[in-house]
Amino acid sequence: MKAIWLERTGAPDVLRAVDRPVPTPGHADVLVEARAIGVSRPEVMVRNGTYAWMPALPCIPGIEMAGVVAQAGADVTHLKIGDPVFVSARELATRGGCYAQCIAVPAQAVQPLPAGIDLRHAACLSNYQVAWHLLHSAPAGMTFTRVLVTGAAGGVGSALVQLARLAGKTVVGLARSAERCRFVESLGAVAIDARDASFPAQVLRATDGEGAGLVLDAVGGERFMDLLDCVAPMGLLVSYAQLGGPIPGDLIRAMRGHRANSPAVRCFTMHAFDRFPARRAESTRQLVGQLARGDFVPPIHSVLPLEEAARAHALLESGAVLGKVLLQP
Ligand SMILES: NC(=O)c1ccc[n+]([C@@H]2O[C@H](COP(=O)([O-])OP(=O)(O)OC[C@H]3O[C@@H](n4cnc5c(N)ncnc54)[C@H](OP(=O)(O)O)[C@@H]3O)[C@@H](O)[C@H]2O)c1
Repeated sequence: MKAIWLERTGAPDVLRAVDRPVPTPGHADVLVEARAIGVSRPEVMVRNGTYAWMPALPCIPGIEMAGVVAQAGADVTHLKIGDPVFVSARELATRGGCYAQCIAVPAQAVQPLPAGIDLRHAACLSNYQVAWHLLHSAPAGMTFTRVLVTGAAGGVGSALVQLARLAGKTVVGLARSAERCRFVESLGAVAIDARDASFPAQVLRATDGEGAGLVLDAVGGERFMDLLDCVAPMGLLVSYAQLGGPIPGDLIRAMRGHRANSPAVRCFTMHAFDRFPARRAESTRQLVGQLARGDFVPPIHSVLPLEEAARAHALLESGAVLGKVLLQP
């Protein structure tokens, strides 16, 4: 089978297209034949060696695919050949294995999909899992009506805008070009150019002067503290990535500077559910239902051949992607 092989970490060209033997499923496993494979930032971090939960090298990277069951082990009763399924490496022992024509995985780890679902859309589900938990788990019971999303034109960001709109929230999204702002607006959010230093004032104007009860940040870096200006009274600022670098300065001091609003700050990772896979599975089932009903349609930026995984990574890192990049086996 065709696969992408990662022997050493580095720039996109360390991703090499190779031929590998088709894996043999065990008695409780299924062999899934990929139809569409998602490309996402955690894989970029695996590739450049900065991911905290690195798979052992060499390996086939890749954390998500949608495909069909090609073989089922003798003990597998709930899946049969031809069934459409979603594979997320979040459910596997190793975060990898999906940049391949086929993968053998425990049958219990795959998410069955309804017949007829668009498998390209299903291959985008990982970002929606993250978005779902940022919106429904990270607030931990806190109520909010307005959400501010940074990096709103990106993979997770666009999923956040869509799911927050579906949940009936008012959404404000930050992006760094006029084209990217138009894309964010097309998803149903008020868009603000993040390059404008006055963006906190604009966020306040867009939220009736109150700010957002939930602020979801993927950027971190120098301007993370400015987001405290955008948090509504008793609101929550969640840091789930630091694409713009580490957050400098004294966070508690900055929070106390905003104590008239009593803001809370949380850092979030999907790995918080590694010991509670049932919570992740339940949200994935809900998302599959919403996707099948057409409640949201994942925006797909481009589909490249599997062999061009290196180009897909370079594209993702170029900052030009609106939504999602897929690989086609
Ligand atoms: N915590 C978790 O469990 C979890 C799970 C999955 C992913 N993540 C992380 O979430 C982040 C977003 O992932 P993604 O797949 O949505 O990535 P993506 O598709 O590349 O989107 C990231 C967006 O962030 C914006 N951005 C702002 N400053 C940036 C900078 N300095 N460098 C790069 N982008 C910048 C970009 O939009 P503009 O140019 O318009 O600003 C871009 O669209 C990644 O760091 C990823 O590792 C975290």
